[in-house]
Amino acid sequence: MAAVTRTPLIAGNWKMNLDHLQSIAFVQKLSWTLSDARHDFGDVEVAVFPPFTDLRSVQTLVNGDDLPVRFGGQDVSAHDEGAYTGEISGAFLAALDCRYVIVGHSERRQYHGESDEDIAAKVSAAHRHGLVPVVCVGETAEDLEQHGPSAVPVAQLRVALGGARKGSEVVVAYEPVWAIGSGQAATSEQAQQVCQALRAVVAEVLGDEAAAATRILYGGSVKAANIAGFMREADIDGALVGGASLQLEEFASIARYQKHVGT
Ligand code: PGA
Repeated sequence: MAAVTRTPLIAGNWKMNLDHLQSIAFVQKLSWTLSDARHDFGDVEVAVFPPFTDLRSVQTLVNGDDLPVRFGGQDVSAHDEGAYTGEISGAFLAALDCRYVIVGHSERRQYHGESDEDIAAKVSAAHRHGLVPVVCVGETAEDLEQHGPSAVPVAQLRVALGGARKGSEVVVAYEPVWAIGSGQAATSEQAQQVCQALRAVVAEVLGDEAAAATRILYGGSVKAANIAGFMREADIDGALVGGASLQLEEFASIARYQKHVGT
């Protein structure tokens, strides 16, 4: 596969935490902490995914103070507008300068019954509105036992990417469900093995060039103490961080993993 440099992405999925006032304080402090530490945001991109009700506040802060932190939504409707109570259109996210949107997080799959086809429709909606979907895939502990580590995430990604527009950017997040919020992260070798298989799926569906350019993140109990190990792997280009993304110093330290590679 062609050698390209992929800018690592450290993404914080806040889930249903922090209201709009707390989000402003958090993003401000995060930017200050990283800027004080001379973090090069061009070298390692940092993004946060606040609840929908925070996005306008985050946008106003980021644009007003010209902060280098990127942001996105945690979900998007497959529809553009209309009678879909409770849904949020990609058009609204784009109007708030969201760059990214998470689609297919395992909590959406589990609690909202989202299927791979639903997720493909959301990938398509994201691309229609110029958003970069962060497509989450991952196996449960049961899947792991029955099918091994890659079969389920590979099958999920193949369907989800069916909604992608060729030439539009996608980010993939491999998040083993058993590792999310459990404190038990995958080993970097396990994660690399699956991420390599996922890159092959991107190649199969979107072509070799897209596969070489696509960032594949690992997620599931990522913290400052284990990030460097993941980032040393050839096919892991960043992390989707849940719990630790709500702890300012911890998340800043994850973003600054290059300072502790080798520790
Ligand atoms: P965690 O969550 O870092 O708390 O395990 C990751 C995620 O759900 O994206």
